[in-house]
This record gives sequence, structure tokens and C-alpha cells, in this order.
Amino acid sequence: MLKKLVLSSLVLASSIFAAQEVNIYSHRHYDTDKKLFKMFEAKTGIKVNVVKAKANALINRIESEGKNSPADVLITVDAGRLQLAKSKGIFQSIESEYLNANIPKIYRDSDNQWFALTKRARVAVVKKDSGIENEFVTYEDLANPKFKGMIVVRSSSNIYNQSLLAAMIEHHDEAYALSWAKGMVANMARSPKGNDRAQVKAVANGIGKIAIANTYYIGKMVHNKDKSQRDAVAKMKIFFPVFKDGGTHINISGAGVTKYAPNKVNAIKFIEFLASKDAQELFATKSYEYPVLAGTKSSKIVSSWGTFKEDNISINSLGENNAKAVKIFNKASWK
Ligand SMILES: [Fe+2]
Repeated sequence: MLKKLVLSSLVLASSIFAAQEVNIYSHRHYDTDKKLFKMFEAKTGIKVNVVKAKANALINRIESEGKNSPADVLITVDAGRLQLAKSKGIFQSIESEYLNANIPKIYRDSDNQWFALTKRARVAVVKKDSGIENEFVTYEDLANPKFKGMIVVRSSSNIYNQSLLAAMIEHHDEAYALSWAKGMVANMARSPKGNDRAQVKAVANGIGKIAIANTYYIGKMVHNKDKSQRDAVAKMKIFFPVFKDGGTHINISGAGVTKYAPNKVNAIKFIEFLASKDAQELFATKSYEYPVLAGTKSSKIVSSWGTFKEDNISINSLGENNAKAVKIFNKASWK
């Protein structure tokens, strides 16, 4: 009898253990993340199940799955998308002493519905020997007609550009943002095409003089299997423009716990882990992003770009101004 009891409680214990899982819907597509998920599993015994897709598809999926959604955590890049998820009501506010203490207020949602995990700057990438970076200081400057035929930048359907324009609206107003966008379009070396890396490659190969790109792509190009990316980036350097009354445009990747998370406790543990020192160091050294946790060291490459002044506007405003930014891009005919 006793043997039977012990056996059945062992079975029960193992089934409880097996039930320890957390379901992640992630837009991030980096190898570092796979490593981090393994680290979390090893540390906690909680199995990480990942669904990967584009952010909008994941947001729509969580929305349509409703109360039956298996998703516990949504990870996306760009504050605009996190704000979209919040506006659709698919997150819940979470209380975490660790996150509250360690993620600065400007890098989390005003209702604690999402927290930033990493930061990235949207910068100008120029040829090392061109000297063009001596001709401008601000993002506003880039719309000056003297840069006609020099700017290469991806399309306006891209959220990184939408957030940059959202920041421009926040610093000035919609009318100013429209005239800036028109000026940028007039200065483009070619009609927008390709991703951030394609812009850097274009300038390296003599198309335009100023590429707009997120910082981590430079790190990724330096350590790329593809020789053409390594060769292109070797000719280039980063310049950090600032807003006239602010700093360099910062965006984030971040995560939130879904409204109907079946494994809420594990979900919070998971996000706390991603904000822990070990995880932050991996983001910083392997994804070439800027850590959100103070005191985390950066990679050699990232440090070599130098320091800069981070912009001071609320990250929440990037999402709040997103719809206005999209309209302005259309009006300015930014493809
Ligand atoms: Fe990206």
C-alpha cells in the first residue's frame, strides 16, 4: 500500500514538474535568444516553448485566441509594437519588485504592461573617409537641401522609421514632422528599398553618403559569414545624430505578460531572468544591443562606437504617435 502511495505521489510530482512551462511568442530572431532560453530552462527547470513570427501576426494571434491563448509572454522589438499590443488589451500589468527596481521608468510601460529588455540607437552610418559627419549634428539637419541625393533609408512601412518620426513629432509637432519627412524624401539617393544592412552596403558601394540604421546591425555585419557584409562595414563608421533639443533616438525590444497567461508566475520569472545580469550580458555581447540593466558591460565592438547622449522623451510616446507618423509618411510620399 505504502509502496503504491509513494509511487503514485512520484508520478504526480513528475507530472507537476512536466507542467512547469512557459509559452513565449517572440518576434526576436536572434541566436542569442535560443541560448538564453536554454539558460533559463537549466536554471529553473521550466520548459520554454517558443512560437516565432512577425510581431503583428503574433499580436493578432493572441487577440484572436482570446481566453484560450496558450501564450504567456510576448516579446517584440520596437516600442511601437509593444504599445500596439497594449492598445489591443492583450497584456496585463505585472508586479515585479526586481523589474521595478532595475528597469528605469522611461524604459517600461506607464502601467507596467511591458518592460524593455534591450536598447538600440537609430544612427547615421557613413564612410570612414567621407567627412560627411562633420556637416550635420541633428536628425533635423538631415532634411537640409544641402544633403540632396545623399540619404539612403528603408521604407516608411518599417516600424523603426515610424518610431523615429514619432519621436520627431514628440520633439516638435506634426507640421514640423511633415516638413522634415518631405525634406528627407527630397534628399534620398534612391527610392527606399531593403533593410538597414542594405542601406549600409549601399553607402559602402557608393550609393548616397548617409545610411540610417540601427546600431546592432553594424555589430552583426562585422561578425557575418557573408564576406560582402564584412567588407562593406569595414569601410563605415557610426555617427550619433541627436534631436535638436534632445539626444540620439533610442528604441527598445521588450516583453509583456499576456492577459490570459496560463503560466503567469513562470512568465514573470522569465522576464525577470531576461533582465538579469547574465542575460543582459549576453544581449550586450552577442546581439550588440545596449543593456537596460545598469552596470552591465558592453561588447568590445559596441564600446568602440563611443558614448552618446540618449534621447530624453518617453518611450511610450513612440507608440502613442505611431498612427500620426504613418499618416505623415504617406503625405510626404516616403515610400
Ligand atoms: Fe532589427
